[in-house]
Amino acid sequence: MTHDPRAFRDALAAFATGVVVVTTRAPDGRDAGLTASSFNSVSLDPAMVLWSLGRNSSNLDAFQAAEHFAVHILAADQDDLSRRFSARGVDRFAGLDVDRGEGGVPLLLHCATRFECRTVHRYDGGDHIIFVGEVVSFLHSARPPLVFHGGRYALAVPRSEEHRRPLRQAGDPVSDEDLNYLLWRAFFQIRRLPLLRRREMGWSDVDSAILQMAARQNATTVAEIDDKIRFSGLRCTPAAVEKLMEAGLLEAVGPVTSETEVSLTHQGRRDVLELLSMARSVETNAFADMDFSEVHLLKQLLRRVIANTEAAPPDLP
Ligand SMILES: Cc1cc2nc3c(=O)[nH]c(=O)nc-3n(C[C@H](O)[C@H](O)[C@H](O)COP(=O)(O)O)c2cc1C
Repeated sequence: MTHDPRAFRDALAAFATGVVVVTTRAPDGRDAGLTASSFNSVSLDPAMVLWSLGRNSSNLDAFQAAEHFAVHILAADQDDLSRRFSARGVDRFAGLDVDRGEGGVPLLLHCATRFECRTVHRYDGGDHIIFVGEVVSFLHSARPPLVFHGGRYALAVPRSEEHRRPLRQAGDPVSDEDLNYLLWRAFFQIRRLPLLRRREMGWSDVDSAILQMAARQNATTVAEIDDKIRFSGLRCTPAAVEKLMEAGLLEAVGPVTSETEVSLTHQGRRDVLELLSMARSVETNAFADMDFSEVHLLKQLLRRVIANTEAAPPDLP
């Protein structure tokens, strides 16, 4: 078959794979390793796996000579490790803590799963060499995996339908597929406890928004806070700030204008931290049955919803 190599590569990229880092120790004692997506299982008994290495790899001699190698399946949050082990012209092991396996092979820590292998076959695979290893030991965790698809890192999110239960009464015209309804309901359920506590403290919506923004940066101006909360229709004005100063929650030097820098008082910081830690614990419960990939995806998609919609204040008549 004659083909356009680029088109062939793109066609192969349609196949979603995990990502592994394969390591070994070269005959001169140097640590060698690279990111690979060509890993796969071969046999259950005996336990065997394979992967393939490009013939032009700088690691070729090391793996050709090695009697042992280790395969590390990367977890969803380990894309940095994948980039590190596919970067050229750098010491990929610099500053990395490793254990040592059979034959001194470097073993990376905290990966989703790790196989220590003895090289049993090397096959010609065109411009690659296929290495088959017998697994001599392995460590497995249930951490969600890093995925590679279409030339990009991706997340594996289960398609399970088990959490889909109706949220509204039967016959209700708005489906629970409706984004507005989902966001609105999630927003109020997540905010319920912090909102109750906030009311006990006597804070209005605008008080709370100003104080939380002031907590994000130590010294920030009235205008900067206003800029960050305007999208919600709430405004940070000198008068609103003065009210919070009188309550002993904010402090500023001199008369308050839009350009005045404000910061939280000791009491203001203590109260905001109490609310933030309450909000964090509600958030932890809300994410309780989600793994890293699901939480990451939820936040990533919400950021896109925010980017794709207008950040202008409602200014309704
Ligand atoms: C997600 C991903 C998968 C890769 N899969 C392989 C592979 O299966 N085999 C391979 O030889 N190189 C693969 N590479 C490229 C290597 O990681 C590395 O960049 C390349 O081998 C050049 O470095 P080297 O000369 O030190 O080997 C992959 C790179 C990435 C980012």
